Amino acid sequence: MSHPAETNPHGLNAVFGDETEPLPLFNAWYAEAAHAEPYDHTAFALATADANGRPSVRMLLLKGADENGFAFYTNLNSRKAAELRGNPHAAICFHWKNLRRQIRIGGPVTPVSDGEADAYFASRDHGSRVGAWVSLQSSPMASRAELEQRLAELQAKHPEGDEVPRPPHWSGWRLRPSEVEFWLHGGDRLHERLLYQKTGDGWERSILYP
Ligand SMILES: Cc1cc2nc3c(=O)[nH]c(=O)nc-3n(C[C@H](O)[C@H](O)[C@H](O)COP(=O)(O)O)c2cc1C
Repeated sequence: MSHPAETNPHGLNAVFGDETEPLPLFNAWYAEAAHAEPYDHTAFALATADANGRPSVRMLLLKGADENGFAFYTNLNSRKAAELRGNPHAAICFHWKNLRRQIRIGGPVTPVSDGEADAYFASRDHGSRVGAWVSLQSSPMASRAELEQRLAELQAKHPEGDEVPRPPHWSGWRLRPSEVEFWLHGGDRLHERLLYQKTGDGWERSILYP
């Protein structure tokens, strides 16, 4: 990707802008990614660590980004959920290949409210709501037939058009960012990096070497 020659007062590419907090730039890049990425610009990697500090990472879909943080949903009996309960800090990373951009975000996580989880669950299509009941996510499964049996039972209980309540084992978390790094591809691997770090009541901006 070519870089516009124009830079901001920090000597950074103009696409970084001059915002004193990271959310406006996140929103701008996210909106651009919505057009640039053919499959799903909401996908990100979520890194968690267990109580011994051993990390694990997997892809998720972002379901909200605002001044309160970055929300995602999952099965509360999953590995990630167990790790987040034991160590409520996480890091997430978006990579938009077509834009050659990356955003890394880290910070503490807290569960979303029941009301919020209910509202998001209700917005999902019927199949996904049934699926949330059927999957014992991250638990060993004897065979695919076991899953299909559970699915048939749930479909009989909640046929298409039926209201499907949110399972008690399904909800979300919100990561409240304490640092956000924007990365932009540069020639000769001399990429550009802008880091925002939370201070008491604001954000500190620094430029990092590639
Ligand atoms: C693009 C993509 C998006 C995904 N989105 C979600 C999601 O939003 N929530 C979720 O629980 N799993 C999602 N998954 C599945 C997870 O990557 C993972 O397999 C699952 O959550 C179990 O992870 P765990 O065993 O570490 O808890 C997604 C996978 C991919 C490839």
